Amino acid sequence: MERMIIEGGAPLRGEVAVAGSKNGALPILAATLMADGPCTLRNVPNLTDIDSLREILMNLGVQVLAAGNTLHTQVVNEEPTETDHDLVRRLRASICLLGPLLAKRGHAEIAFPGGCSFGDRPIDLHLKGLQKLGATFKVTNGMIHAKARKLKGAQIYLGGRWGSTVLGTANVLSAAVLAEGTTVIEHAACEPEVEDLVGFFNSMGAKIEGAGSHRLVVHGVEKLHGTDHTVLADRIEAGTFMAAVGLVGGDVFLQGANPRHLDAVIDIYQEAGVQFEEQTDGLRVIAPHRLKAVELTALPYPGFPTDLQPQTIAMLARAQGCSIVTERIYIDRFHSASELNRLGGRIRIPTQGTAVIEGVRQFSGAPVVAKDLRAAAALLIAGLAAKGKTELHGLEHLDRGYEKPVEKFLALGANLRRITDEPAAALAPSAPLTQSDKVIKKLTA
Ligand code: EPU
Repeated sequence: MERMIIEGGAPLRGEVAVAGSKNGALPILAATLMADGPCTLRNVPNLTDIDSLREILMNLGVQVLAAGNTLHTQVVNEEPTETDHDLVRRLRASICLLGPLLAKRGHAEIAFPGGCSFGDRPIDLHLKGLQKLGATFKVTNGMIHAKARKLKGAQIYLGGRWGSTVLGTANVLSAAVLAEGTTVIEHAACEPEVEDLVGFFNSMGAKIEGAGSHRLVVHGVEKLHGTDHTVLADRIEAGTFMAAVGLVGGDVFLQGANPRHLDAVIDIYQEAGVQFEEQTDGLRVIAPHRLKAVELTALPYPGFPTDLQPQTIAMLARAQGCSIVTERIYIDRFHSASELNRLGGRIRIPTQGTAVIEGVRQFSGAPVVAKDLRAAAALLIAGLAAKGKTELHGLEHLDRGYEKPVEKFLALGANLRRITDEPAAALAPSAPLTQSDKVIKKLTA
């Protein structure tokens, strides 16, 4: 079993290169199956989520060759429309194949994504938008069977109870690109990752207006050619380093970070006492002293991102005073709070969707378990601030979304390492059984 050992205390100093965006790369990679020629994607982060999608695409007849952070794709077989159930269950974001498969192949069979550790993750808006374009759906044995003989442009309102939907917008947009006529998507998600997807499609010959806004106008085209596209920098990875500096203290330059994608975060962090210096090629983050408590609400872009909410709670858990964090996207996304409390935090969830954080002066190291990606990031940075040793379990979640986290934090002066326990049998294959071994054997027989 793998775990991370973190010895906290050292301030973070130096420079770190921000990786390409996971949430930008995933729908773009899925959309390469719509191209009639080869595509080159640059700045793709090396993550297990990307590996999973590559594997699914290869089963769908798309050749995907990797060279460092560049992927070369080429469709070699247009026949398959069924995705592997187990692979799709591993990667919730594989739902972003639904629009591209329907648009290009007229069929899609894909596992129903179901919930995740921080709550229900419905796809009703994806289905509603695709239905408006002419698709039909049936769900049997946990699989969505989708069909579309001819997609036709439509007027689609894509807002829901929780606001806009990022992957729902990506799916409907993908289908609309090859639909006949014009589609208008109102209340589209305007996250930078969606804007990047629009840029990717337009570079393949699509005709989409309104990138970066809540209204996308898509004039359908007959086909898309190959392209060469560089994925945007990961604002969530950059924000995670910002939270780490705020929590641990120090002075770090985030090379490649785009401050315009982090305006809401910079604004709140400045109020808490973090200082920023924008430079042409990135963002300098300085945290000279103990931060102050703040209040914030996680909202769709350009609001404060939910994907930085757990890391920000970790940061505020050591600020002076009482902070209040409200979640308006995933109201149950607070389970890292109890693990942060093991490190000495004082975080309460008095009502669903709200966390009250009473800042403490010091964390002290302890074993903690991450149950999802951003919780893992929050616990990692909390470990960097804790006195003594923190043992972080659940690293498979971290690997889904952070490229080389140990190397990057080591370069900033942190003290952490990954260790893998040898299986007990391998450690002492022929050691004679002790008396207690015999008792355990008897009890478990
Ligand atoms: N929602 C619906 N119906 C739908 C779709 C969404 O009610 O059909 C609700 C969701 O339950 C949620 C809200 O709308 O309350 C927003 O969900 P959204 O669809 O935008 O989420 P997503 O597209 O499935 C992406 C990111 C998530 C990120 C969210 C919100 C990817 C691969 N995933 O998910 O990233 O939290 O947008 O910004 O882009 C992460 O990276 O850790 C992560 C979870």
